[in-house]
Amino acid sequence: MRVSTLLLRDFRIHRAFDVRIGGHLLLVGPNGAGKTSILEGLHMLAVGRSFRRVPDEHLVRHGAALMEAVGDLAWSDGSHRVECRVAPAVGKRIHLDGRVVSRLGDLVEATSVVTTSVDDVLLVEGSPWHARRWLDLFACQRERGLLALMVRYAQVLRQRNALLARGRDDPKAVAPGVLEPWSAQLFELGKEIEERRIALVRAAERIVPAVYATLAGHEADVRLVYEAGIRSDTLAGLRGVLQREVARGHSLWGPHRAGLEVTLNGASARAFSSRGEKRSLAFAMKIAQGRLMRETPLCLIDDLALELDARRSAEVVRLFMEVGQVVATSARRESAWPEALEVRNLDG
Ligand SMILES: Nc1ncnc2c1ncn2[C@@H]1O[C@H](COP(=O)(O)OP(=O)(O)O)[C@@H](O)[C@H]1O
Ligand SMILES: [Mg+2]
Repeated sequence: MRVSTLLLRDFRIHRAFDVRIGGHLLLVGPNGAGKTSILEGLHMLAVGRSFRRVPDEHLVRHGAALMEAVGDLAWSDGSHRVECRVAPAVGKRIHLDGRVVSRLGDLVEATSVVTTSVDDVLLVEGSPWHARRWLDLFACQRERGLLALMVRYAQVLRQRNALLARGRDDPKAVAPGVLEPWSAQLFELGKEIEERRIALVRAAERIVPAVYATLAGHEADVRLVYEAGIRSDTLAGLRGVLQREVARGHSLWGPHRAGLEVTLNGASARAFSSRGEKRSLAFAMKIAQGRLMRETPLCLIDDLALELDARRSAEVVRLFMEVGQVVATSARRESAWPEALEVRNLDG
């Protein structure tokens, strides 16, 4: 996916901002100039929500009644105009080529974006939720139809959790005839999701070590270990946890309980790696994601230089430019960065 124009109106700090993007773009400016906001605008157009997961209303400039982000994008079947509007009083409206997008999934499955920021160290050191979220968006943009599977899983999980929560006071709610059909569905859908995630992790693991070695400047042994949320080949093998599930009032197995462990030279990166190493590992994971996307992705890199020396950041941007179109932000431009990165200065 490529972007050629972006227009923001009353979007966070920006009253009115527009840019034409020919190739790769670097947004340069001091803290608070609105650089991250521009990446947020692009991310909204690709997947209909903020990459920092802030509520839509927070994107509307203080005092304004409506925010707009409009962009000309292109993916494999041609050029498209995406328009996203949020009015706190009304909600969010997205148009694709003039038609209302009623299912956000249609947009997510059509577009292709890889986003990276310092928060990506959470993939390595944060709660497993971050790695699950990364794998699931990655999977959905790689394979059509997966989002529907994930939505269905979430519905079944809610139903099963509701029964388990009731089961504490009302044993009938967790009687086999009532609970089993939900358990069976959770198991089937959950296994399908985990198969996809395992395949992605395996594919990424074939790419990450070489990319990490390029960034680090030396060879390294990097492993990505998916810790499955369903640790049994059969549903019967999970019955033993039912009592604990009833006591806790929610499902204790399923892809929503999975995690990802990253190891560097045989040691847990979470426990032992430096912050710079963690950021480099996360960059390597995102570059691997970019290489594995179905469509050439738009690569949004927030705070490219943060926590990296000039050589590493130059490698990061060079590797992303091989993956797809880059839009990056930084407080300043390093001389070691590729010439092909066109600079747009934002004043404070
Ligand atoms: N809804 C909003 N309305 C007005 N200003 C906002 C809003 N949300 C954030 N800001 C302001 O935008 C600025 C941050 O913009 P940001 O894009 O993160 O800057 P940068 O990435 O260049 O440091 C901050 O000064 C913040 O107060
Ligand atoms: Mg920023």
